[in-house]
Amino acid sequence: MSRTEPRTAAIILAAGKGTRMKSALPKVMHRIAGRTMIGHVLANLKPLGSQPNVVVLAPGMDQVASEVAPLPVAIQADQLGTGHAVGCARQALGDFEGTVLVLFGDSPFISTATLASLVARRQGADNPAVVVLGMRPADPAKYGRLILDQDGALDRIVEWKEASEAERAVTLCNSAVMAIDGKMLWSLIDRVDNKNAKGEYYLTDIVELARRDGRACAVVEAPEAELMGVNSRAELATAEGLYQEQRRALAMEEGATLTDPRSVFFAADTKLGRDVVIGPNVFFGPGVSVADDVEIRAFCHIEGARIESGAVIGPFARLRPGSEIGMDAHVGNFVEVKNSVLGKGAKANHLSYLGDADVGARSNIGAGTITCNYDGYMKARTIIGEGAFIGSNSALVAPVKVGDGAIVGAGSVITRDVEADAIAVARGEQVTRAGRARDFRAQRQKLKQDKTRK
Ligand code: UD1
Ligand code: MG
Repeated sequence: MSRTEPRTAAIILAAGKGTRMKSALPKVMHRIAGRTMIGHVLANLKPLGSQPNVVVLAPGMDQVASEVAPLPVAIQADQLGTGHAVGCARQALGDFEGTVLVLFGDSPFISTATLASLVARRQGADNPAVVVLGMRPADPAKYGRLILDQDGALDRIVEWKEASEAERAVTLCNSAVMAIDGKMLWSLIDRVDNKNAKGEYYLTDIVELARRDGRACAVVEAPEAELMGVNSRAELATAEGLYQEQRRALAMEEGATLTDPRSVFFAADTKLGRDVVIGPNVFFGPGVSVADDVEIRAFCHIEGARIESGAVIGPFARLRPGSEIGMDAHVGNFVEVKNSVLGKGAKANHLSYLGDADVGARSNIGAGTITCNYDGYMKARTIIGEGAFIGSNSALVAPVKVGDGAIVGAGSVITRDVEADAIAVARGEQVTRAGRARDFRAQRQKLKQDKTRK
């Protein structure tokens, strides 16, 4: 059930090939802040509660179909234009009669607020048939132009290719996003033809058609930054940069300290608590949540991790998916953690690999400790109890357990379980021969002299 009344539905166009990306990946699958472009569109749309949301794809775009699942997909066999693409969603929309939003999979930044204002305008007292999202870009370039009548209402949209000099001088441009009266949509789309400069079925023609039917059309303006589309790798990088700037500002607004905001990279879904301090050059991949009072020192790479309050991470730490770092735990320099749980107050401060491990509360993992979790075929788990002490440069060959309060001697290779409060030492015995170094030196020196004399 929809939460908006009267109801809203959406059609998201994403059948374009995106040739300028020069990529095997469909354009809308490219990521900004770890989230696909179409994922951004859907995330911004979600709060509106629109239903159904239909995604128009070209044949073979299976990756996109699974990315948007369970949303219904409509296939546009040939890319005959934006008007034709909307027509392909007809069956999936059924007899829907509320407001239909048309969005684009490669315009990831249109905010929920802007979409809501478009829908609100569509439901205004004058009941406009079509409300178009307009913009006044610094460079109007080859965007379609929005032509207003004497009363300032939207009269028609003219594509750049067809525009006269006077029309090209208009600075109000078409973003191509629209809100349309569902009762009229199909009768408008049926009348769109392809007799134009590009030989395409232009969605933009529905404005003129609705006016001919005596219906009003309107424009809602939004900032250019929200409406940017991504067509090339360079534009993808620009979009990433713009997104990161906003995300950093939001993090600070919500109570995080960023020593050098420009060198911190967030994922779209990064969650930060209060009084989190983030040093320079920190990268967040998807799926990270950070609780209050956590310090993340310089040069950390973190993805798929949950960090509890008071923990200290880094400098130079790497947290990989499935890492759960407990309250007040420490993960220090050159420590890699993967699919592992560190209990409250546990410490792994230097040069370690903890993979598929459980480390109990207050346990100390010495420098250079490695959990050997992979035998070339299968992964296995290392389980360390509470208050244990693993000496430096130990290898824990999983599957293996070290009990509560146990101590593992430095340099051990642990292949069998160690019971609670035991000391396990598994390394070569030390042999010391008094005076042997002096004898050795004398012997070698003599040998060398004999050789050079010959
Ligand atoms: C469109 C607008 C133009 C506007 C511009 C803003 C039309 C006719 N023109 O032009 O007024 O200023 O966007 O960026 O709408 N698509 C399909 N199937 C198709 C054709 C397109 O799914 O058959 C999708 C593409 O994947 C793309 C979007 O629709 O995401 C826009 O298509 P595109 O060809 O880029 O339209 P523009 O020429 O840029
Ligand atoms: Mg375009």
